Amino acid sequence: MNDDAAQRETPPLSVFHREARMMGVNMWGRAMFSFIFPFSFPPSILLIIFIVVFVLLMVTRRSLPGTDPPAQGSIPCLPRLPVLGSLPWLGGSVPPHLLFTQLARRYGPLFALYLGPHYTVVVNNHQHAREVLLQRGKDFAGRPSMVTTDLLTREGKDIAFSDYSPLWKLHRRLVHNSFTLFGEGTSRLQDIVLSSVDSLCAELLSCGEHGFDPCPAVTRAVTNVVCMLVFSATYQHGDAELQEVIRYNDGIVETIARGGLVDIFPWMKVFPNKSLSKLKECITVRDRLLTRKLEEHKASLSDGDPRDLLDALLKGKTGSGRGQRSSGSEDEGITDDHVLMTAAEAFGAGVETTSTTLLWILAYLLHHPEVQERVQRELDEHVGSDRAVCVSDRSRLPYLDCVINEGMRIRPVSPVLIPHTAMTDSSIGGHSVSRGTRVLVNMWSIHHDPKHWDKPDLFNPDRFLDDQGQRVTPHCFLPFGAGPRVCVGESLARLELFLFLSSLLQRMSFRQPDGAPPPNLQGRLGVVLQPLPYKVVVSPRSGWQRGAK
Ligand code: HEM
Repeated sequence: MNDDAAQRETPPLSVFHREARMMGVNMWGRAMFSFIFPFSFPPSILLIIFIVVFVLLMVTRRSLPGTDPPAQGSIPCLPRLPVLGSLPWLGGSVPPHLLFTQLARRYGPLFALYLGPHYTVVVNNHQHAREVLLQRGKDFAGRPSMVTTDLLTREGKDIAFSDYSPLWKLHRRLVHNSFTLFGEGTSRLQDIVLSSVDSLCAELLSCGEHGFDPCPAVTRAVTNVVCMLVFSATYQHGDAELQEVIRYNDGIVETIARGGLVDIFPWMKVFPNKSLSKLKECITVRDRLLTRKLEEHKASLSDGDPRDLLDALLKGKTGSGRGQRSSGSEDEGITDDHVLMTAAEAFGAGVETTSTTLLWILAYLLHHPEVQERVQRELDEHVGSDRAVCVSDRSRLPYLDCVINEGMRIRPVSPVLIPHTAMTDSSIGGHSVSRGTRVLVNMWSIHHDPKHWDKPDLFNPDRFLDDQGQRVTPHCFLPFGAGPRVCVGESLARLELFLFLSSLLQRMSFRQPDGAPPPNLQGRLGVVLQPLPYKVVVSPRSGWQRGAK
């Protein structure tokens, strides 16, 4: 890499701090963060909460139900106040992944804090993360119950926010099998993604040599994949139903991102809350659309192969218990509510994550034209320009895989994983951890740990190749998590990232518009940790003038 490029590289953490006001996290990540702590509430609000709760406690002379923290262990812990816990030490504008990374320098890689009344352990290195996610994965496979996620998921009828239980396991297995049906072993998913790739390429190439923001087209393409996968709908650019899906998804993400305090102090939901009201409105629109799709699917369900994920879930749930009811409890098996929440989650968890990863990688390619050229040389050599790329080309395109991995390392879409909880008394790093403790895994600090990554702020795909040019996966690279709570959509996401990027780079080249600055790599505070909007110019590569064969 030349000096210029090196200077443009990701700035070190101190610069992030100065810029932290501009930072955010991806939809799921941001949503996760708001459950972690609302990092920008003013001290006056904290003071008011403190006084109100203190007075209430004095009057009732007992603590609020369900808020007693588990006994504290030997893990270094931030200071705390009654009721507020360590929140006063977490305020300000630094986002959690950066703040935790900074705190880990003072307290060590494993430290604890109190989010209001909730004793929470923060894991910042990969050894402890592997203990939590893998070695003692089952001990830590629980999820805390929270006001916003309970609303979003009909009290945990989804996968991501549901607590560990036999029903959750059954549900997760059903979803996993349904994904497998359309992914590994069949060409269905490839066909779905490739048809979206064709429209994306045509759309990007139609913008010609003018600089334009690729974000709306990429988000639409990924949303379209999920719509096709979940309920077999194919939408043209500008379709009203597709716009509705994108709108309510954005609304949910945005309001969840603004949530926060109510997830730490659930009693606050009795006060008027604009964000919660908007969240409820968006959920109503979402549920109306998905219920209509579900009813249509039930009416046309046949004995043949499932047409899409909804079909597969409907067929699968029949064998899962007395699953014909429209809402249910543990002993009712998988219900319609579970099917509906799974479909909703495919959008919530599957769109922003994948599209943001693609946009980060494109942003880094604009900074590193030499990386783009190397991927294109690999594509020319192993695929050529006479046919489209397909899944079976993946093994012949190791460098492209490394570029994807490096994008996910340097900008993990979930810089802090969804909170885990201890299901039982257990331990991390030899320290005992009581049942009910919340555990946050800071993937950002693991992916930027200088002990394991040479120049971690540098975009360098070669770190995923060994001396013989063979792919390697370092043990501290965990973009999808690991263990019982590993991302259900990992293989789908990997397939999408591979097919989208390989096809785009086979068919066109990306560059910055003349005179435009390179994309800002620090991200911005919005709904997601995304690159600030940037512009690209695309030019067709030989033989691909119209974007498709
Ligand atoms: C680049 C794309 C993606 C990335 C980087 C990603 C990453 C992650 C991460 C880090 C987790 C949390 C693991 C934990 O809590 O320990 C997660 C969970 C999850 N993801 Fe993904 N994800 C991606 C795409 C998808 C897609 C496409 C889907 C489905 C359509 C999906 C569905 C889920 C679900 C359902 C969970 C919750 C799993 C559980 O709690 O058991 N993800 N993902």
